Amino acid sequence: MKINRIELKNYRNIESLELVPCEGVNVIYGENAQGKTNILESIFLFTGLKSFRSSKDSELVAFGKDHTKLNISFSTKTREQSAEIKITDRRRAVLNGVSLPSPTALMSKFPAALFSPGFMSLIQNGPSERRKFIDSAICQITPKYAVVLTEYNKLLKQRNSVLKDNDNYRETKLFLECINEAFSILGEEIYIERKKYLDSILPYVTDIYAGLSSGKEEISFSYIRKGDRTGDMNLSDILKNHETADISSKMTLTGPHRDDIDININSVSARSFGSQGQKRSAAIALKLGEAELINNFIGERPVILLDDVMSELDASRQDYILNHIKDMQVFITCCEPGSILRMSGGKTFNINNGRLI
Ligand SMILES: Nc1ncnc2c1ncn2[C@@H]1O[C@H](COP(=O)(O)OP(=O)(O)OP(=O)(O)O)[C@@H](O)[C@H]1O
Ligand SMILES: [Mg+2]
Repeated sequence: MKINRIELKNYRNIESLELVPCEGVNVIYGENAQGKTNILESIFLFTGLKSFRSSKDSELVAFGKDHTKLNISFSTKTREQSAEIKITDRRRAVLNGVSLPSPTALMSKFPAALFSPGFMSLIQNGPSERRKFIDSAICQITPKYAVVLTEYNKLLKQRNSVLKDNDNYRETKLFLECINEAFSILGEEIYIERKKYLDSILPYVTDIYAGLSSGKEEISFSYIRKGDRTGDMNLSDILKNHETADISSKMTLTGPHRDDIDININSVSARSFGSQGQKRSAAIALKLGEAELINNFIGERPVILLDDVMSELDASRQDYILNHIKDMQVFITCCEPGSILRMSGGKTFNINNGRLI
């Protein structure tokens, strides 16, 4: 998939901007606070998702204006398409001239993979960030997974509220016996889907990471199943083993809501031992791997949006990003125009005060 043209009106600090990107790498550069991330953010909105920076749509409208209007034309494998997003106090979207019931209807029409500095929390923070990443990545390619997650979370809530509120040991034990079967079936399904996802994405991520590190480092993942002592226990047995602990701590201590993914570089944890550049490379490799997998599933290469990706990367890693991402349209923002000198091909855009110069 590729964007042929972008037009923005009254979007944050951008009064009016027209950008005709190339089908390869597009670098948007300029000083701080000029509007680089704003451009990437506006493109990202066409995925149908909310902004990765503002939860309120009204914040996207330029100060003092009553609406913003974004237009893109893009080509998919089958045809030329156009989309429009108009934001007043709420967001409306039009695809190929037809008004959509909700902007979320754009989902899967315009696939994009975004790396923003906030995504580093995937490597740096606790397990919930990694669970969130893998769950939303699976939802994109297996929509029924979202249903399983919702059902699981409903049962988890019930299980936890009985554990918390019921002080009668026998009653609680009886309740757990009733709920555990359904709970383990759903939990096992989540575990299997997550393992499957990691197995599918791994070859892409290892390739990309090897490219980024010029073959000097290797990335690997392992799925950490809380309470699995032997490495091959099923959730039902894990839950049984933790029953007394669950009752005394008044919460569900095992299950996919407590699992984690170890991201290792050269066999040691990236979170505990990785350098800044290694962590950033791992996060980028995961995002680019996700894009490859989306392409595999829906047959359309997502647009890649890389916000502020160059900082903390050495020359050879920057070179890989600028010159070795194949067959995908990429938008990169950076402050430092020096790195662009190493780019063979591609297009550059200099932005100042919301205007291309
Ligand atoms: N609704 C809005 N109306 C007008 N200006 C806004 C609005 N929202 C944000 N801005 C301004 O847009 C400017 C550019 O923001 P942006 O995040 O795109 O900068 P950037 O070029 O990516 O900078 P950096 O290199 O620091 O990441 C900021 O100065 C911000 O105050
Ligand atoms: Mg920025």
